[in-house]
Amino acid sequence: MTAISTDSTVGQLVVQRPSRSRVFQRLGIDFCCGGKKRLLDACRDKGLDTDEVVQALAADEAISGQGGVDVAGMGLSQLCDHIEQTHHAYLHTELPRVGAMAKKVAAVHGANHPWTVELASVFAGFSAELDTHMVKEERVLFPWIRTLEKSGRCDEGHCSGSIANPIRMMEHEHDNAGRAMERMRELSHGYTPPPGACNTFIAMLDGLARIESDMHQHVHKENNILFPKAALREESTA
Ligand SMILES: [Fe+2]
Ligand SMILES: [Fe+2]
Repeated sequence: MTAISTDSTVGQLVVQRPSRSRVFQRLGIDFCCGGKKRLLDACRDKGLDTDEVVQALAADEAISGQGGVDVAGMGLSQLCDHIEQTHHAYLHTELPRVGAMAKKVAAVHGANHPWTVELASVFAGFSAELDTHMVKEERVLFPWIRTLEKSGRCDEGHCSGSIANPIRMMEHEHDNAGRAMERMRELSHGYTPPPGACNTFIAMLDGLARIESDMHQHVHKENNILFPKAALREESTA
């Protein structure tokens, strides 16, 4: 069993063992945008007992084994491909589907459940921002990272200055998406359908909950694995 240091950041702990993300998710500890926090500080901020959290992580380790895709062991280009083929592909399908349901639910149930109107509007903003965000990654940042891996430098049109600049912008946009998801979770009382909710209402909340959980993995892989590795590659060839 791997020793768990409370001085490690939450992001590092998930990089070492991806299944830990499930424990953090259950306890409400943010491991993607908040991944740079030490476990000790993340527990304190959430009012959680550090020893109990370490025990929960150890218990998960005992039952889950390694499992999952070894993203930490992937090369830079492979990781970009993996993110595009899994998380981006998923969002390209799910954002319009869930957005259409959120609109419909707000139109039909907005009078009885006014929060659905704000939810649809927050989702529309979240979805539009995420669409442009993914275009920036797919057309600019990821091609830049792939070239860096291949030749150690990037002289193409999309590369100007340090890669730290677009990375900072992407991290900022991840934070915005994180705030929108927090608001949607709050408005929907943790994606709980009200009594008597119709199937579209239930499916919309289920879709939102899945998007949130997928986004946690997606942002974690970018913020805590891909971006630091790409920055290091640039530094080592500077
Ligand atoms: Fe992405
Ligand atoms: Fe991203």
